[in-house]
Formats: sequence, structure tokens, C-alpha cells
Amino acid sequence: EDPRVNGIKTKIRVVPDFPKPGIMFQDITTLLLDPKAFKDTVDLFVERYKGRNISVVAGIEARGFIFGPPIALAIGAKFVPLRKPKKLPGEVISEEYTLEYGSDCLEMHVGAVDKGECALVVDDLIATGGTLCAAMNLLERAGAEVVECACLIELPELKASHLLPYHGYPLLGRDRLHGKPLY
Ligand code: PRP
Ligand code: MG
Repeated sequence: EDPRVNGIKTKIRVVPDFPKPGIMFQDITTLLLDPKAFKDTVDLFVERYKGRNISVVAGIEARGFIFGPPIALAIGAKFVPLRKPKKLPGEVISEEYTLEYGSDCLEMHVGAVDKGECALVVDDLIATGGTLCAAMNLLERAGAEVVECACLIELPELKASHLLPYHGYPLLGRDRLHGKPLY
């Protein structure tokens, strides 16, 4: 494993029972307070994705907006925000997805992505995978090809195996099903 990974792991604060009882909240704000750990996180993704013909980095509101833009700049791709409903002013396409209770929705501007572009989806965490699925559907509906989803954390107890192989290799996840982790 790359020695940077453990440094990153130690900077993520786990908050029990937030936002509700039984949830172990993975707080990445403590990682952002450490410039080296934040840079290491971005660098590890950049090392994986540079030179792979990716022209679109799509970040998922809100925490995908933190990690997506520095990755996009470093690999020379454009950044496309995937937003919660009614935030984007132009014409949008929408994807609803189900949560543990109720549903949510992501939207993307029509015209942000061209047919045939290679896209990377970025978010902080994968739990059920519902959010990432909605993001991938938006990009595919626009005619893009999703190369992978870059996530920092995968919650092992909620394995999103239905997304394989597209959910990539979360830095702080497990890769029990697909052989060796990259880092
Ligand atoms: C969290 C997290 C992921 C998503 C993962 O976001 O940042 O985006 O949940 O869950 P899933 O794999 O079960 O779909 P949240 O919707 O809490 O909002 P935020 O990023 O705006 O804080
Ligand atoms: Mg989120």
C-alpha cells in the first residue's frame, strides 16, 4: 500500500451517531485541515487518472465539489457539477435515486458534456452506491463514457458491488472482489 494512504486515513474523523443514531459519520473536513494529507489525496487520484483521455470530471454535490476540481485541473479536464434539484439555471437532465428513507435527485446541465467524451465521477464516499449510480446514468444519457468513479471512502458494511467495476478502487475501501487494490 502507498505510504500516503495511512496518513490520509488518520486525518478522517469518524463521528458516532451523526447525523442520527447508529451512523458512523466519516468527516473529511479534518482531512482538509491538513494540506499534506489533502494534497496526497488529490495526487493519488491524479496519478491513477492522468493520461487516460479523461476530458470530463463530474463532481457530486456537495463533497464531490471539494475533491473534483483539483483533480480536473491536474489532469487537464473540464469540471461539471452534478447538483441537487433546482440549483442549475439552464436546461437540465435529472436522475432520481432512492435513499434509505425517501428519494433524492441529481441534475446536470444539457450541453455540459458531449457525446463520446470520457468522464470520471468524483465523490467522497460510497455507501449504497445509489448516488454514484444516478451520476453515472446522467453522464451516460448525455452520451459520455464513464471510465470510473473516484471515491475516497467505501463503507464496507454496505458493499456497492452492483457498481463493479465502475466504482473504482476507493482509497480507503476494500477490494475483496477484484483482486489487488491499486494503492
Ligand atoms: C453522502 C456522500 C455521498 C452519498 C453516498 O452525501 O457524500 O455523496 O451520501 O451515499 P450512497 O452511496 O448510499 O448513495 P449526502 O447525500 O449525505 O450529501 P452531501 O455530500 O451534500 O453532504
Ligand atoms: Mg455527498
